[in-house]
Amino acid sequence: MASNTLFLLPGDGIGTEIMAEVEKLIAHLNGTGATDFSYESGLVGGCAYDAHGVAISEADMEKALAADAVIFGAVGGPKWDDVPYDVRPEAGLLRLRKDLGLFANLRPAICYSALADASSLKKELVEGLDILIVRELTGGVYFGEPKEITDLGNGQKRAIDTQVYESYEIDRIARVAFDLAMTRGKKVHSADKKNVMKSGVLWDEVVKQAGKDYPQIDLHHILADNAAMQLVRNPKQFDVMVTDNLFGDILSDAAAMLTGSLGMLPSASLGAPDPATGKRKALYEPVHGSAPDIAGQGIANPIAMFASFAMALRYSFGMVDLATKLETAISDVLEDGLRTGDIMQTGCRKVTTGEMGDAIIAKLG
Ligand code: NAI
Ligand code: MG
Repeated sequence: MASNTLFLLPGDGIGTEIMAEVEKLIAHLNGTGATDFSYESGLVGGCAYDAHGVAISEADMEKALAADAVIFGAVGGPKWDDVPYDVRPEAGLLRLRKDLGLFANLRPAICYSALADASSLKKELVEGLDILIVRELTGGVYFGEPKEITDLGNGQKRAIDTQVYESYEIDRIARVAFDLAMTRGKKVHSADKKNVMKSGVLWDEVVKQAGKDYPQIDLHHILADNAAMQLVRNPKQFDVMVTDNLFGDILSDAAAMLTGSLGMLPSASLGAPDPATGKRKALYEPVHGSAPDIAGQGIANPIAMFASFAMALRYSFGMVDLATKLETAISDVLEDGLRTGDIMQTGCRKVTTGEMGDAIIAKLG
């Protein structure tokens, strides 16, 4: 077995089209000797349901667990809208997150200068923007018990969701944020609602305690609602922001949109380091879905997928220079005026998924 193994899960819709570009990229990188990746591909989502009746097979789960990194496309589509809840396409992704223990979700918001004009904010507010939202992914109100709707018998119902965090969950996500900040701007904002939530009080206490192990980090507390406001008012004040599952869901979507299109946004999800090897389980995926409206036309933007692959190079394989080179190639191609339909601007040249992939790979030399 080669030293670096990938497991590719293209999924449904445009997932297969953008993953084809990743395969070209891997072939190029291996061909130049820059990497020695070996990989296999599997089925996840609707295509896995069609083949096996489940959203991911046990055999593919085993391959995902064995790989150094999972590269994931997107799942879902109208074809599977009526399949049973526990085997619906998203169940494949949820199973992967759970079994790989992926508790840290990394969502960068980077503004490519060629697209600064396309932001909904003024160019000077977003040009050069490079922030990273670190969202807790496996705890909090999405999973806490009790979680139910009860009939009160008087024509009324009551719904309950429960926000639960234990200190170890907060400590480990805080440390991921601090470790990442050490490789960047050494500044962390921790966002919670300690003014109205007990879980926020504990969140703040544990983050500050963990922060004592990182004296070089400039640690700030911010209330989550103010964080939303500041992201829109002056996003460049942030470097790394760490927050819980619910606030992270919202704040990361808001931060991402500062920089433009869904087709540009990468993400990484990391687990705990293996005590023996120090390696973290990891899954890399674009933020967008399977885009059924454009699937099969060869016009999807592969940049979110490539940028996710760059995160894999950086966080799973320590290939920081190569990751930066790939990100620079993406930026250069945009500077050259190449655009897929979703990011098209006047005066630019419209290209297909394959042409965009080829152009980025060509920039790598
Ligand atoms: P979506 O992200 O698939 O598409 C939203 C809009 O953005 C569409 O108009 C689409 O054409 C466009 N778009 C998205 N990615 C693009 C790309 N790379 N290039 C060009 N245009 C792009 O979200 P939507 O429509 O809400 O969901 C479609 C399906 O995807 C659903 O079945 C949903 O459940 C699933 N989904 C899966 C996700 C995942 O696999 N992680 C995440 C979000 C949605
Ligand atoms: Mg969301």
